[in-house]
Amino acid sequence: MIRTRFGNGITFGVSVLIVGWTIAATAATPADIERKIDALLARMTLEEKLGQMSQATTSGPLTDQRKEEIRKGRWGSLYGGGTAAQRAEAQQIALTQSRLGIPLIYGQDVIHGFHTTFPIPLGQAASWDPELVRQSARIAAREASGTGIHWTFSPMVDIARDPRWGRVAEGYGEDPYLASAMSAAMVRGYQGDSLDAPDSIAACAKHYVGYGAAEAGRDYNTTWIPENLLRDVYLKPFQAAKEAGIATYMSAFNSINGVPASGNEFTLRQVLRNEWKFDGFVVSDYTAVHELIAHGYAADARDAALKAIRAGVNMEMVSTDYWDNGKALVDAGQLDLKTIDEAVREILRVKFRLGLFDGRTLPGNVQGSNSEALAVAKQLATESLVLLKNEGALPLAKSVGKVAIVGFLADSPTDQNGAWVGEPIGTVTPLTAIRQALGESRVIYAPGLRGSGDTRRDGFAAAVEAARAADAVLLFLGEEASLSGEASSRAHLDLPGLQEDLAAEVAKVGKPCIAVILAGRPTTFHEVAANMRAVLYAWHPGAMGGPAIASVILGDAVPSGKLAITFPRTVGQVPIYYNHLNTGRPPSETGPAAGDKYRSKYLDVSFTPEYPFGYGLSYSKFDYSRARGSAPQVKLGGTLAFSAGVANTGNVEADEIVQFYTHQLAGSVARPVRELKGFQRIHLRPGEKRTVTFTLSTDDLAFYNSQMKLVTEPGAFEAWIAPDSVSGQEIDFAVVR
Ligand code: NOJ
Repeated sequence: MIRTRFGNGITFGVSVLIVGWTIAATAATPADIERKIDALLARMTLEEKLGQMSQATTSGPLTDQRKEEIRKGRWGSLYGGGTAAQRAEAQQIALTQSRLGIPLIYGQDVIHGFHTTFPIPLGQAASWDPELVRQSARIAAREASGTGIHWTFSPMVDIARDPRWGRVAEGYGEDPYLASAMSAAMVRGYQGDSLDAPDSIAACAKHYVGYGAAEAGRDYNTTWIPENLLRDVYLKPFQAAKEAGIATYMSAFNSINGVPASGNEFTLRQVLRNEWKFDGFVVSDYTAVHELIAHGYAADARDAALKAIRAGVNMEMVSTDYWDNGKALVDAGQLDLKTIDEAVREILRVKFRLGLFDGRTLPGNVQGSNSEALAVAKQLATESLVLLKNEGALPLAKSVGKVAIVGFLADSPTDQNGAWVGEPIGTVTPLTAIRQALGESRVIYAPGLRGSGDTRRDGFAAAVEAARAADAVLLFLGEEASLSGEASSRAHLDLPGLQEDLAAEVAKVGKPCIAVILAGRPTTFHEVAANMRAVLYAWHPGAMGGPAIASVILGDAVPSGKLAITFPRTVGQVPIYYNHLNTGRPPSETGPAAGDKYRSKYLDVSFTPEYPFGYGLSYSKFDYSRARGSAPQVKLGGTLAFSAGVANTGNVEADEIVQFYTHQLAGSVARPVRELKGFQRIHLRPGEKRTVTFTLSTDDLAFYNSQMKLVTEPGAFEAWIAPDSVSGQEIDFAVVR
């Protein structure tokens, strides 16, 4: 059988330049691939094997030394900057000038788009739209593969309950169910229908595992995660990636219960290989193998190599402990060749699956964003926007006279794109988009500050002046891109610098003020919000963030995003997340418990969040009614249907994200007060009503008991079909034997 693939924009029949058109011989069966690997392993020297297990970072043109190294099989993988031509040259050398012609696998951090920048993942999660997220990853794969990238270090599926951690921006929030849906969507998007298609790239679920639980939100910090929490929460989105067919994992920087993730036999061998049967490969994070020494887990580089290889880290990123010590470890009998061969086999398997041995060609015509990509970027940015407050100020009537736009974030393309961008093009800022929509003469722009580090107030007067001259004020506040992402943790969550002062000065003018907050994490802005008639949370919305924000502000689109992470009132409440346990002394805002001092709460601030998980407003109104289950009880192994009527009782057609939660009242291990078990994004016209149904299998209620067995325990349960994690009418049901 001959399989023919056509890349984008290729006219069949053009025979000279067949970019994007490969004729792959019969797709190799898994058995064929294993045979080919056997044959290669039989011919490889130990050095060549250690080379396959090594990845270098690179940028710019290839040096002569690097070319020579590739010829000698020193590297199995390169990652980092460079042009398509440079990547192609390196690959050509590997394929045609190295002894065995083993191709390189080229990696890159393609995190939320490549040429076309989509919202940061935390913003994407707020869309609760896995299909659109899948499409964004598909576009990123197409654009990245067009420059010779085979592999992305994405998705980052670390559950995060601490917004101080800068990398909260890169993941899908605090909930394992929602993050799992996004994780699977990203894998499907990147890897497409088949890994060897020219426009597919291998995905890498990172950072395996527990990285998001860094103590005190400080990046790279220690984590302590009991095994049942690890399995019930932190491992879930990684497992979803496996089920979606992910090709690779990245082992994390952090230690888990004292054992670094990049030397952790329990997570890497027991869980990933033995339990999940993962057969792709694991790459370490950047120098994470060598860092086993600083962790106090390895005595020296040789010990680090030994522990990481044994644990199942197949490829070492950047540090060179494998290369430097592998031979000595084998010669000394500390490491047997079988373990090395197994690691190399896993790497080669992914290379075969990607079609790299067959001289994979580039897909055609993907050099920049196209209109389809920009449309997806705009739609995803629009769906990611979360309306947190609205006292009728939004949407702004198009007949509004003049609008003052205040804040440097209204016109900062780099910042709106957020942390980890590829080769971005075509970013449209909110200022540009609003000027386009309203006309230059109706928009007065005053940045107020040059950035969050600006200590001068010399721009305040112009901002106040702009507000005076306008009928409404849009304040763009928040964080620059550099304040989130790797090594960008914050101890404070407030709007940094003098922005709160600027907002207060402008609000004093008395014009209706609307805050649009661009940030890589939940921030705290209670005082600012009190002065605003509306607050729209925009994350770092990417290239089309400007048009998306403009369309929501002006009512061409209706906000529908809902928070994928809890917003604290103050940093002192952190960690705060919706799926917590009840404690023996749960606090309450109502009833006798409200006045009881001896409850789990604070003296100086409420125990409730500023905005809960799942929360977000619309320009329309939704009424939830008649929530019920199909039966009062279900037998173990069976299913129940839960439904509620959801009606659009407002004036505009709009999307609503309907959420389904459960709670087990008593278990052999105490259960969270609520757990998300389903969601649906539905579209309703004014007056339209729909019955929304969720089917629950008793397996969905399973958790890890204290013997680390996955069990569903019979007992009493509650369920809610709700607009967020704190409301909804309760439905009681039972699971019986
Ligand atoms: C370190 C980061 O932790 C990881 O997410 C990234 O993929 C690698 N560096 C490579 O850039």
